[in-house]
Order: sequence, then structure tokens, then C-alpha cells
Amino acid sequence: MTRVLSVDAVQPEPAVIEEAAAAIRNGQLVAFPTETVYGLGANALDPAAVAKIFEAKERPATDPLIVHLAHIGQLSMCASHVPPGARKLGLAFWAGPLTIILPKKPQIPDSVTAGLPSVALRVPAHRVARALMELAGVPVAAPSANRFSRPSPTTAAHVLADLDGRVDVVLDGGATDIGVESTIVDFTVEPPVMRRPGGLTLEQIQSVIPEVVAAVQQGSVDVAQVAPGQLTRHYAPRAELTLYQGSADRMVARVASDTRTMAAQGARVGILAPEEDLMALAPEMAALAATGRVAVQPYGSRGDPARSARELFAALRSLDAVGVTHILAMSIGTDGLGLAVLDRLTRAADGRIRRV
Ligand code: TXA
Ligand code: MG
Repeated sequence: MTRVLSVDAVQPEPAVIEEAAAAIRNGQLVAFPTETVYGLGANALDPAAVAKIFEAKERPATDPLIVHLAHIGQLSMCASHVPPGARKLGLAFWAGPLTIILPKKPQIPDSVTAGLPSVALRVPAHRVARALMELAGVPVAAPSANRFSRPSPTTAAHVLADLDGRVDVVLDGGATDIGVESTIVDFTVEPPVMRRPGGLTLEQIQSVIPEVVAAVQQGSVDVAQVAPGQLTRHYAPRAELTLYQGSADRMVARVASDTRTMAAQGARVGILAPEEDLMALAPEMAALAATGRVAVQPYGSRGDPARSARELFAALRSLDAVGVTHILAMSIGTDGLGLAVLDRLTRAADGRIRRV
């Protein structure tokens, strides 16, 4: 049985947090909001509790977890060595959407790190998450609270859609603010490497530690192959997703013609696009919508990549909910959070990229 507890995102009720913290201390699973996405948490120092995370998500044991801390002072509980650059970055951006990889201490179970000698650490900013960590009194291992390979959850309803009955407690603190996961920076290599673009931009990171490099070229399909456990299809809706990249005009023309062809062949097509591109498609849409085989779903706007990030995963889930078989996704640029958005869509596309 899953208990859903409503909690105030700004002033979390202490009694609610204590109920969830007790569940963590008792080796149970608690889904909770962070500023990025919802996490599926368990006591990181309890291998039996950690095993439940992998079981609930059907996540392969080769995919390591992020350990969440209440504050930066707990770093040395988990990391055997903290290089000055890592400390500086943590002081600059924690609490926030940043994860730092450091050499691990022996007390972190091997199951948390998938046998790696390093551990991923993050201090989330969301007040519910921080209060939970404080009261639990232990570091909390938490991947995103979705079934393995599904889009990450940005609401408690998304968590329940994937994990109802598989998690003991869900703290419902409303929709998350950032909408894509934290940025991961690996300090076990020299120079430090950004392994996953996320809620904190590379420019923000480099403003504090200029040496940090992106793992691969921005916007390339290789973006998908940068951290362990990220080689497989990820963030994926049930429908088959194709990603379009190129100038807005050419994407609109190509998506319109591909949609016509696919709908004529009997596919149910969902178009995922920033608002401007949906406007540009409007003249075609009347005819396409009349086929009853085409749904459109905006995700933010090209001029506001942060809003695209916030809306992305919910948009993918909405298209699944209307039952489309194919999603044609138009990319936004790589400015700001655009890079993280492109990374998630690239993984969801699993190689189906159309450059136009
Ligand atoms: O925003 C977030 O980071 C969210 C919230 C809940 O905090 N969490 C999250 O966790 O996105 P998850 O499990 O979905 O992604 C964690 C990824 C793993 O897939 C892996 O690629 C990377 O972090 N990771 C974890 N430990 C690592 C390590 N020791 N070395 C390299 N990569 C690691
Ligand atoms: Mg995940």
C-alpha cells in the first residue's frame, strides 16, 4: 500500500515530514519532490533498503544512484576526498540542481554506486527534500521516481502512474520547478567533466570552475553516452519518438509532411513542439486535426528554454495518455536549459534523429 501525504512545498508540515523520515529510517521507500524531478528515496547506508529502489523501478543494478545530503557539511560522510574545485562548486551552487561525483567512502554500499569507486552526491534545494534529509538523519539514495527508462516524474501523479503499490510513501508537494534532472560534474578525473547536462548550465558551472569541460560536443547524439547507466533508451514515452533538428522553418515543413504521410498510413501522430512552431504549423493543422489521427502538444517556447524544461516530461506523458503511436518532436536550441532538453529528447529518440 502506498500512502500519499500532501505537503506544503514552501513550509513543509513537520508532522508530515517526520512520518516520511521515519519510513526512511525503517528501511522503506519514500518518493519526494526536489526542485528538479521527484526522487525515489531510501536510506543510502542500508543495502536492503537500497535494493528495494532497484526492484521498484526495475532498474538494472549497473546504473548507480545519486546520494542526497541535507547540507554540504555531510560531504565528508560519503566522500573520501574532496578536491578544492568540488568544494568551491558545491559552495557556489548547493543547495541546488548540481550533482558532484567524488571518490566514495567505504560506508557507502557498493549497490548504491554499482560497484564504482566513486559516488554521486547532491544537496537538493527543495524544502521538502531538505527537511526530509534533516529529519531522517541519514544520506538518502534517490534516483528519479519513474519506472526504468520512462520520463522522469515532475508531479506526484506521475510517480503514482509508475510506482503505485511499489513505494511506501509519496510526499505530494506539487509540480517541480526545474523539470529536468541535476547537472552531473565528475571530479574524479582531471579536468573535471560534465557527465550529464541538467538544471544548472555549463556556463554557470564554468563561471566558478572554468576548467570543467563538457563530456562531448553539444547537441550531438553522443551526448547520450556520457555516464554509466545512460547508454540505454531513457526518458522515453511509450510512443516511438523521432527528434527533428535544424532551422525552425525546415523542421515545420518536414514535420507537416511526415505527419501527413504517417497519418495516411494509419499511425496516430503526436507533434511535440515549442509554441512558435505550433503557430507556424497552424495552417496545416486544421486539415491534419480533421483526420482524427493527430494530436499536438506544446512544450514551452524557443525563447524560454527554462519553461520548455519545466514542461518537457509532462508533455511526453500527456502524449502517451492520448494514445499516439509516434511522436515527432521539434527541438529548441542549446541555449541555457535547452542543452539539457536536447539531451533528454536525444535519449528518448534512441537514434531516430532527422537533421533538416
Ligand atoms: O535531479 C536529479 O539528479 C534527480 C533527483 C531525484 O535528485 N535524480 C536523478 O537520478 O536524476 P537518476 O538515478 O535518474 O540519475 C542518476 C545518474 C545515473 O544514471 C548515472 O548516470 C549517474 O547519475 N551516476 C550516479 N553515480 C555515478 C557515479 N559514481 N559515476 C558516474 N555517474 C554516476
Ligand atoms: Mg532517472
